[in-house]
Amino acid sequence: MPPRTSPRTSLRTSPSARSGAPSAAELLDFVREVAADAALVSSLPLDPAGRTWIRLDGPGGCEAWLIGWPPGAGTGWHDHGGSHGAFVTARGALTEQSLAARLPTEGWKTLELADGVDRERRLAERDGRAFGPHHVHQVFNAEAGHAVSAHAYHPPLPMMRRYSRTGPVLRLEQVEWPEEWA
Ligand SMILES: [Fe+2]
Repeated sequence: MPPRTSPRTSLRTSPSARSGAPSAAELLDFVREVAADAALVSSLPLDPAGRTWIRLDGPGGCEAWLIGWPPGAGTGWHDHGGSHGAFVTARGALTEQSLAARLPTEGWKTLELADGVDRERRLAERDGRAFGPHHVHQVFNAEAGHAVSAHAYHPPLPMMRRYSRTGPVLRLEQVEWPEEWA
């Protein structure tokens, strides 16, 4: 997920930029490349009080971010408005909780999740994943030290749905639009 506001700093243009929509694998390649760029990763200001970010120029017009996570910082449950994406931990480690189920995107406020749909993975330094357009997850830093991660989405996020979670019940809380984080 992107942060809510951004200085819109563009620090780099991917040498792997190509025409056409980037695939999930290409987004993953890009964020791996970002995560391996020690100078870029080190340029991200870190704040113990909250997440920090810089916007990147991703391949094929994708939306890309480098994000810093102090211990305890997290996104809350959300989707990506139909965009696919990828992220890689560049420093530290992040935890991702996700749903192994495709949710209906419209027409509901609360949804009771079936047993067995929860997944959790720890993404240590240089670990990453790509995800499809229906992915619902939350990402947080459960470690004692700061984490930094690189994220890319295509198409640029048209909107995001935010959810709360009480046991098996997922509730749609809010829809966010690009104006709120651009
Ligand atoms: Fe996300």
